[in-house]
Amino acid sequence: MELTQKQKQAYDLLTDMVTDYVGYGGAAGCGKTALGCYWLLELGFYLNGARFFIGRDSIKDTKVSVIKTWSEVAKKIGFSGYEFTGDGILFSNGTEVELLDLSFYPQKDPVFERLGSKEYTAGWIEEASQVNYLAFETLKTRVGRWKNEAVKSKILCTFNPKKNWIDAVFYRPFANGKESKDTRFIYALPSDNPFLPSDYIKRLHELKDEATKQRLLFGNFNYDDSPNTMCDYGAITAIFKNDIVKKTGKYYITADIARFGADKAIIIVWDDWVVVDHRVFAISKTTDIQLCIEHFRHKYKIPKRQCLADDDGVGGGVVDNCGILGFVNNGRPFDGENYQNLQSQCGYKLAEKINGGEVGFECDLDENTKEAIISELQQLQTYDSDSDGKLKIKPKELIKQDIGHSPDWRDVFLMRAYFEYQRAAPKPQDLTGYF
Ligand SMILES: Nc1ncnc2c1ncn2[C@@H]1O[C@H](COP(=O)(O)OP(=O)(O)O)[C@@H](O)[C@H]1O
Ligand SMILES: [Mg+2]
Repeated sequence: MELTQKQKQAYDLLTDMVTDYVGYGGAAGCGKTALGCYWLLELGFYLNGARFFIGRDSIKDTKVSVIKTWSEVAKKIGFSGYEFTGDGILFSNGTEVELLDLSFYPQKDPVFERLGSKEYTAGWIEEASQVNYLAFETLKTRVGRWKNEAVKSKILCTFNPKKNWIDAVFYRPFANGKESKDTRFIYALPSDNPFLPSDYIKRLHELKDEATKQRLLFGNFNYDDSPNTMCDYGAITAIFKNDIVKKTGKYYITADIARFGADKAIIIVWDDWVVVDHRVFAISKTTDIQLCIEHFRHKYKIPKRQCLADDDGVGGGVVDNCGILGFVNNGRPFDGENYQNLQSQCGYKLAEKINGGEVGFECDLDENTKEAIISELQQLQTYDSDSDGKLKIKPKELIKQDIGHSPDWRDVFLMRAYFEYQRAAPKPQDLTGYF
């Protein structure tokens, strides 16, 4: 059986001599159950007489879901040397898999004493987000106690997003770039699984409950139906199928330049408020970015005064070298309105445009990029707006913490709003040198 790229990454961690705890998941259909079965099948086959556990919050669920996938995976790898017993799986080489009931019984067994005397080589907590943290803590002390001469003790936790211990233990350190060597997380989405039935993702898109859709389709660990959201999901996704928005032939370029070469750089060409072309640089060299801006400028005949790049960090060099406008996030807002800074002002304007159905997207996009754009635009949120009366949007730093990366798409979109104000009130100094 061929693993998906994400499953491979997890499998590498599951078979190394370094990692203790591997988190895998993020959304439905990303191959969590298949990964767990594949790992224990392979390991059990090579390690005679090993002892594993597969735990879930309900033994009934474990039996139904795990055993079904176990049989499928075993068949795919052509292995049949095992049988299901009443409470687990027995390999013909003596290896045993115990199916564990990890339900929390606050009266009967408040500290998971029933696990206290078990001894395992390694194990897997399936749907770990539904399992009590104490179960994980206890199981940590129960692995590495059986046949671990040649293999490292490990616990695999598979889960969908949930704001509890799995978020704190696995997702958050990963998202913030602060993972330790022993605890690692592999973030996988349905779009990472090419083996999914064709209508699987379509069905996730049809989910009515927004929070569920965010978690299961987009792997959003932050989704909590924030009352601060400025554009609802429907308005945001509508930009991808907006066939009535007008194009006027007046082009603009907005560019978000990667900071210190770390984040990605995005350059967008707008025909009025419709994105008609774009380029993403994963690892950006400023010279490439400059060439690309020049290329787009000539291709679409766009004057420099209609081109804008962020003026923080590396962007400043691009602004100077291309002779285009610079966007200072923390800059002064255009006159007459009460915003914290230019970025907030443009964020509000962008939200207004999205909600009014005035933004469109006409170039081809892969699903991952579309999902990234949606999740970043959902981060257009009001923030702390009643403290000093000035209108603010959720700061980039907080967004980074929540979604795990810099909201580059939000930024290039938001910059487009600059021209709404600039057009309304051109300042003489903005025009010098741009003809
Ligand atoms: N490496 C793989 N090769 C072939 N099919 C796979 C693979 N990984 C997952 N699948 C299939 O993709 C679907 C979803 O996988 P599953 O493990 O059930 O996802 P999850 O548990 O994350 O919801 C299943 O039909 C499964 O058989
Ligand atoms: Mg599953």
